[in-house]
Amino acid sequence: MSTIKTDNVNESSLLNELTGSICTGWAGQPVCVYESIDSTNAECTRLSLEGATHGTVVVADMQTAGRGRRGRSWESPAGDNLYFSLLLKPEIAPEKAPMLTLVMAVAVAWGIKQIAGQNADIKWPNDLVMQDRKVCGILTEMRMEQTQIDHVVIGVGINVRDRSFSEELKDKATSLEAACGMEEPISRKELLEAVLKAFEGLYDDFVAAGDLTTLQATYNSLLINLDREVTVLDPQGSYNGIARGITGTGELMVELPDGTCKEVFAGEVSVRGIYGYV
Ligand code: BTN
Repeated sequence: MSTIKTDNVNESSLLNELTGSICTGWAGQPVCVYESIDSTNAECTRLSLEGATHGTVVVADMQTAGRGRRGRSWESPAGDNLYFSLLLKPEIAPEKAPMLTLVMAVAVAWGIKQIAGQNADIKWPNDLVMQDRKVCGILTEMRMEQTQIDHVVIGVGINVRDRSFSEELKDKATSLEAACGMEEPISRKELLEAVLKAFEGLYDDFVAAGDLTTLQATYNSLLINLDREVTVLDPQGSYNGIARGITGTGELMVELPDGTCKEVFAGEVSVRGIYGYV
């Protein structure tokens, strides 16, 4: 059973949701709930430096400086969405840490299926997509201690309620409730619990295997890019190909027009294919 830390919190709808009944955290670790925080990833890192343990979860009703990938910001208004970060202290080689993002992508897809009853697809490497629009983003950040991992923070932002998006996002983003046409509001607490529960089993499999081989078929079954044309935005020059799924270490296999295959590394390139979000 988890502890809910409420010292830094005033009343908020998220807090009400989370304290309405016992919130199950991850591996029995604390769930720290904030009405407002700069970024749950930033707070998770601060807590880790203060001694927080593997499995600590930070969740907030809103973020004032939500962070996205590639230095972008993440729109984080109050009341609508789920913003949380999971602190991990994995005993794995640093180069394996990016694979955790793909593990979380599968966990979010499973959590959405359980709570909303609908399939969400993955746009490689780690965007969750419904009706060809982004419904969730994941940002993994790592801190090293000499040559070893000190900690990894996996931050997840899920658009839950039907709301208006900014001009920049309105054609690219959707929410769970809009995509599913749900009449009953989705409980962010139940969604958080479902994602954390799914991640727990997937994480154990990942650590035992040392890579994504046990998850590869499942990930590929959720991959919206599979067998579809993608444009790889490589700094060395863009090219087109057909996505053929991920490798056991998470690279995207892209078949080129001449029949050869390239392995695309997340972080080095972006893949376009279904919407303009890269
Ligand atoms: C992306 O750009 O797709 C990744 C977005 C990740 C957003 C989440 S919201 C919770 C956590 N805290 C942050 O500041 N960012 C992540």
